[in-house]
Amino acid sequence: MLRRHLALVALLALAACKRSAPPPPPPEVGSIGKDAGVGSAAPKDAEEYSPRFLDPLKPDDPIDPALTAQGTKYMVTSESWQASEVGRVILSEGGNAVDAAVAVAFALAVVHPSAGNIGGGGFAIVRTGPGQAEALDFRETAPAAATKDMFLGPDGKPTRDSLATHRAAGVPGSVAGLWELHQKYGKLEWADLITPAIKFARDGFPIDAGVAKSIKRNVKDLLENQATGDIWVPKRIAPTENTEISIPDLAATLERIAQDGPKGFYEGKTAELIVAEMKAGGGIITADDLKGYQAIWRAPLRFSYRGNSIISMPPPSSGGVVLALTAGVFGRADIATMPWHSATHIHRLIETWRRAYAVRNEVLGDPAYVKDMPLAKLLSPEFHAELAAQIGDRATPSKDIKSLAEGTHTTHLNVVDAAGMAVALTTTLNAGWGSGITVRGAGFLLNNEMDDFTAKPGSPNMFGLVQLEANKIEPGKRMLSSMSPTIVEDKDGKVWIMAGAGGGPRIITAVWQTISNVIDYGQTAALAVANKRVHHQHLPDTTRIEEYAIDEVTATQLKDRGQNLDFAPTYFASITAIVRTSTGWDGTADPRGGGAAKGD
Ligand code: GLY
Repeated sequence: MLRRHLALVALLALAACKRSAPPPPPPEVGSIGKDAGVGSAAPKDAEEYSPRFLDPLKPDDPIDPALTAQGTKYMVTSESWQASEVGRVILSEGGNAVDAAVAVAFALAVVHPSAGNIGGGGFAIVRTGPGQAEALDFRETAPAAATKDMFLGPDGKPTRDSLATHRAAGVPGSVAGLWELHQKYGKLEWADLITPAIKFARDGFPIDAGVAKSIKRNVKDLLENQATGDIWVPKRIAPTENTEISIPDLAATLERIAQDGPKGFYEGKTAELIVAEMKAGGGIITADDLKGYQAIWRAPLRFSYRGNSIISMPPPSSGGVVLALTAGVFGRADIATMPWHSATHIHRLIETWRRAYAVRNEVLGDPAYVKDMPLAKLLSPEFHAELAAQIGDRATPSKDIKSLAEGTHTTHLNVVDAAGMAVALTTTLNAGWGSGITVRGAGFLLNNEMDDFTAKPGSPNMFGLVQLEANKIEPGKRMLSSMSPTIVEDKDGKVWIMAGAGGGPRIITAVWQTISNVIDYGQTAALAVANKRVHHQHLPDTTRIEEYAIDEVTATQLKDRGQNLDFAPTYFASITAIVRTSTGWDGTADPRGGGAAKGD
């Protein structure tokens, strides 16, 4: 115990230091994407809520080596170098993958404020051995007083109240989820896993480049809430990288959680502060909502892709189902006929996702409320063959996709330990900085996850997702999610790839492209993550193309097939991933979101 304490002290001394300049770039990492030479338009509404919106990587840019690491024993990846370092120390001190994941998640709740949280929720896949895995659902729930029409105005149209008001917040699940993980699988003391986060919050930490950029981008919104502005914009102008921030109220909240477990959040002083915040701001979360929150263990979705076994999140996430549909439909095509990012490759992806997201948006929801979810059908080879047979050389307009009834912000971490235990965990506030509302006296931000529900069937939400009745608002219900913590086991049952992302509906397509880049195209972890992406979600009926993702010839070929392409700058999700190599583990964070891999 003393040894661990000393190591944590060393870690925290390190955390207090400014980050040293990264080493020079490696000589050659590989060519990333291709020239696109296409125009761009102003960001659209949903992107206004995007968290970081970093500059795109250009084709021959080297990947920042600070994002990546190699290890022979274990590996941690997250969107914060400070949080990844916490995980590395926990593993080096004999903690297992779950201990490290819990400690990293609490650290992210301090040092990665746009998405790390205790005021939000998430999902985790825990893989304990070959073929053995569990899924943990700590998604937020609608408060008991929530109603189907709570985000419709007098004119019957959706308001923006599901975004930046107290009523936008679902009942947070993160603390209950991290506790469940630790109760079932943790080895080290619960309180020791929260100590690094407490020290960051109490003693202060230097904000990293991603946080500084995110504050700058969102400064006006952050200043709209007095408590949020006081913490993150104390001088009323955006702080620069390495500015020290401390959050004593959050340190005190974390201390209550360290001492009392979930009761330190869902009952007692923290709960009183949340309820007082709700009363002051017209919110509807009550003491009973908080006391009644429960995380749920679920059987993960498992499906095969080219002989490998993919383990991902079942509903109320749509991630596993859409990935399974992608594997089953896209996977029917001969990869040898589809060079990476050729028109054939991208056309096939678009046509697969157009259909998979149509299904997602129509029939998926919280399984406790949507009893007739046709999961068996959605996962069946017959249904996949039926969808694959519909795909020809031309685009199918999304309006012609048959209804099945007829027939951000978010962040992801991975940990794998020396025994092969692996945790892929995604957690979210929904939009970057969630609702922007800090619980006064408790120091943490509240989510705006209620926007993930269908406010009005057929009307787009913040992410442009057009969803239907299955995901309508009901008291106590979990809102449909796209979070997709995913682990791929190879043909021998060994962990091969771990991936997940932040980025709303773009999470699923980004996770797919990452794992397919490794499995189908033999790319390294760094390249598979950094490479340019495309995205389609059924509606709007257009394919978002990341800058440099395709060249002009490919763009013309896709348009000739009837595909609508949109090159406007947007946020293409931020992956963190780990890939097993012949010598150990390759970890990487995403140039789009920043962060770091730390391993040994
Ligand atoms: N809040 C984004 C998602 O869960 O899909």
